[in-house]
Amino acid sequence: MASPAITFKMVFLSALFAAVLVNSYRFEVGDERGWSKPTGKDPQSYNQWAAKNRFRIGDTVYFKYQNDSVLEVISADYLNCNTSNPISKSEDGDTVFQFDRSGFFYFISGQPDHCKAGQKIIIRVMHPSEVESPGPAPSPGGDGGGWDSDNWESPRFNATSKLFAVSYFMTVVAGLFVVLYLFM
Ligand SMILES: *[C@@H]1O[C@H](CO)[C@@H](O)[C@H](O)[C@H]1NC(C)=O
Ligand SMILES: *[C@@H]1O[C@H](CO)[C@@H](O)[C@H](O)[C@H]1NC(C)=O
Repeated sequence: MASPAITFKMVFLSALFAAVLVNSYRFEVGDERGWSKPTGKDPQSYNQWAAKNRFRIGDTVYFKYQNDSVLEVISADYLNCNTSNPISKSEDGDTVFQFDRSGFFYFISGQPDHCKAGQKIIIRVMHPSEVESPGPAPSPGGDGGGWDSDNWESPRFNATSKLFAVSYFMTVVAGLFVVLYLFM
């Protein structure tokens, strides 16, 4: 058995490892389409894409584009496609933006005609309290009927349940690491 000091260090490192894995998730804006001027034939708008995902503090969004830019702006500039006064601007083609707070974030293309065509997105980052309580648990002992009722069927919830599944998986993996450290 390892000494208490070493054990503590291992547990601490494992917890850190678990926290890093569980707490950040990278979303690719628009999936394979990336960040580009809408063609009018796209299967979904950027805001429909955003509505299918649940964003948490620490998560990142990745914008992939060519001959374009990403501006973080205030809501009024989002509405008017006003590119003159962005909070931040990036035009290197690979922009990673990390959410450092909950609430709304507004992004538009730096080309006003692209923005007006729909290359703009609002992302709402959940408050930590929403993350902790995703909703009522399915009734124990049942046939999983809770999962079939209406409020469990929104795409938003499906996205969450996947994320939570990933989180629990990572936590279990991290737990195994702790056990390995303790007994080897
Ligand atoms: C970007 O601009 C370059 C030079 O103007 C052009 O060759 C290229 O095809 C453009 N790429 C896209 C995706 O529009
Ligand atoms: C854009 O915003 C700037 C200041 O942020 C303002 O002076 C300008 O009038 C705005 N332009 C339009 C078209 O709304």
